[in-house]
Amino acid sequence: MLRLENLSVTFNANTVNERKALKNINLKLDSGDFVTVIGSNGSGKSTLMNAVCGSCNIDSGKIFVGGKNITYAKEHRRARYIGRLFQDPLKGTAPNMTIEENLGLAYSRGKKRSLSIGISNRDLKLFREKLAELDIGLEDRMKTPVGLLSGGQRQALTLLMATIVTPKLLLLDEHTAALDPVTADKVMSITEKIVKDNNITTLMITHNVSNALEYGNKTLVLSQGNILAYIEGEERANMSLSKIMELYADSSGDTLTDKMLFQ
Ligand SMILES: Nc1ncnc2c1ncn2[C@@H]1O[C@H](COP(=O)(O)OP(=O)(O)OP(=O)(O)O)[C@@H](O)[C@H]1O
Ligand SMILES: [Mg+2]
Repeated sequence: MLRLENLSVTFNANTVNERKALKNINLKLDSGDFVTVIGSNGSGKSTLMNAVCGSCNIDSGKIFVGGKNITYAKEHRRARYIGRLFQDPLKGTAPNMTIEENLGLAYSRGKKRSLSIGISNRDLKLFREKLAELDIGLEDRMKTPVGLLSGGQRQALTLLMATIVTPKLLLLDEHTAALDPVTADKVMSITEKIVKDNNITTLMITHNVSNALEYGNKTLVLSQGNILAYIEGEERANMSLSKIMELYADSSGDTLTDKMLFQ
């Protein structure tokens, strides 16, 4: 579903601040793969996602989604089939609009119909059902402005908005990092349910190494713009938190920080 061929990204090329953020990355995600991404600060995780969704320029290489070469596709076009979530719960929703209006906007993505036509009763029923599945009571607050929701409620809603039209690819960049541990767990289980129910090919960056091994079916380990490991199957099943930290320290000379260890 996603294929990267020899992808390289350099920031501030040919200046003293030159930084090779991604070095010749080759990566393949099969349809339905849920890949967790770990690596120390500055290892290129966010840049990888930025390159895939077209929000940063690449030096060279190719990007394929669903077999189609999208290397030169515009960012807003890619947004029609790539869902994205960030660490900041304030991103991705319009705070002054209600829950149902936000969902209406998300639902019209990629369709000709615009919000000005209004939200049909059938759509409202669908939104209500989808909100009820989140199991956090948002289905009874559909006329509430999104700005009044808590961070966790907003991330759950943003997740629903990113997936209400099933995307070909879902990119999650530390989307639970700004939440308290209990809320983060809740949003993670909602994430897992949505991804599984809709069989969405997903890349999820996390600093929580335990989460990286617990969720999804593959783990990508990045260090200084390189792929250090792409772990799956039995190797992944047998991978412990300490083993992966050791592997990282040995092969990168860098330390992988695990959020859980510092809470
Ligand atoms: N817009 C930019 N301009 C210049 N340098 C950048 C830019 N974006 C990222 N970089 C640099 O590229 C490298 C990779 O950054 P990136 O944001 O991908 O790291 P990351 O793995 O997501 O880190 P973190 O865990 O801190 O979010 C870093 O050295 C960073 O400073
Ligand atoms: Mg990042």
